[in-house]
Amino acid sequence: MMKTNSGADLWRKAKKIIPGGSQLLSKRSEQFLPDYWPSYYRKAQGAEVWDMDNTHFLDMSIMGIGACPLGYADPDVDGAVKARINDGSMCTLNSPEEVDLAEKLIDLHPWAEQVRYARGGGEAMTVAVRIARAHTKKDIVAFCGYHGWHDWYLAANLADDKSLDGHLLPGLAPAGVPRGLTGTSIPFHYNHPGELEAITEKHERKLAAIVMEPIRDHEPTPEFIRIVRDIARKNDAVLIIDEVSSGFRLKTGGAHSLYGLNPDIAVFAKAMSNGYPMAAIIGKEETMQSAQDTFISSTYWTEGIGPVAALATIEKYERCNVPEHLVRIGNAVQSGWRHLAYEHGIELEIGGIPPLSHFSVKGENGPLVQTLYTQLMLEQGFLAGKSFYACNAHTDSHVRRYLDASTDIFGQIAAAIDSGTIGEMLKGPIAKSGFLRLT
Ligand SMILES: Cc1ncc(COP(=O)(O)O)c(C=O)c1O
Repeated sequence: MMKTNSGADLWRKAKKIIPGGSQLLSKRSEQFLPDYWPSYYRKAQGAEVWDMDNTHFLDMSIMGIGACPLGYADPDVDGAVKARINDGSMCTLNSPEEVDLAEKLIDLHPWAEQVRYARGGGEAMTVAVRIARAHTKKDIVAFCGYHGWHDWYLAANLADDKSLDGHLLPGLAPAGVPRGLTGTSIPFHYNHPGELEAITEKHERKLAAIVMEPIRDHEPTPEFIRIVRDIARKNDAVLIIDEVSSGFRLKTGGAHSLYGLNPDIAVFAKAMSNGYPMAAIIGKEETMQSAQDTFISSTYWTEGIGPVAALATIEKYERCNVPEHLVRIGNAVQSGWRHLAYEHGIELEIGGIPPLSHFSVKGENGPLVQTLYTQLMLEQGFLAGKSFYACNAHTDSHVRRYLDASTDIFGQIAAAIDSGTIGEMLKGPIAKSGFLRLT
């Protein structure tokens, strides 16, 4: 029997007064377990979560959508933040930590010379694209991957024919994005340099920027990297590397340096400040100076908590070698998934860098099996779904408990598939899927 679930009731209420229920698609309960996901938390600490009814869970899912790689309520980061709050988080004068953080980011990325700040990943990417367009005085952006909700990006989903709107990136509806932006952002698939070449051939001398993550599901091939860099150079286009999700997980700083990507601009958010809003746009002076030729300015981009949280987070990353832990824990989970899939004859497609691991269940029963897995894991005290984002608070013993429970549940699911009873096990509707990333 499911326990009391006040969170699910609150979610139903929220959807009546907050369109979509949450400000983030990936936090909608329908993405996990429609009607039964606990939805709201009272307390989160380390990798543990207490819901509205004080029911305790171990978070083996997305850890605040990858925003808390040190774990929830990290005492070092929170201590620094509380000190800043006591001394005032906002003021007519600027927060000196902005300068300290800029120095630190440049120190970690010696190719970069200047830094601007925002607070969210999508808005920071929008700053980067604006700088690139201002710098090159050109319009077209070629990109792969997901980069947020802003007009420059969703423009990719405007088609010449209205009925085709959304076909390039399913799940990202461009309603409300001016149709005049049609053709200004053009997607290509990661590791498909031919698609990027085709875009540049078609839009000769109009390419302002190439935008991509350094890595998401697969490592970049050397040929892909070489061609991306060549095309950026030959077209005088700005190479923008989006480290919003990849940054600070494989190493302290951007993953781009692991692959010799040499960007003009790199963008960080999420992981850099462990649960406090902060984002940074770092780049070469020549490119970044173009921020002065346009208008990029916002009040709360100057508050003091974000920079303090980022400095404390980065300090802990270095002191505790956090990326090494994230990779080790992520690898343990991925190999556990492989093992249990083999053991129970369930076909899983496993991907992602180890700190941001995910699986999908293949076959026509896939979405049903995945939703059922979340339901049964919840009953065992785990927040668990198709993704596992590692944090520094995840221990080997957490991973063991999680994999033991997962093995048991995949066993139950395999037996139910065999006996044809699987359809009866799910208590609510099947979870909805998100959007396509072109990774
Ligand atoms: C690669 C990448 N870029 C941009 C974003 C958007 O960041 P935010 O949700 O902070 O606006 C995300 C979010 O998941 C992301 O993964």
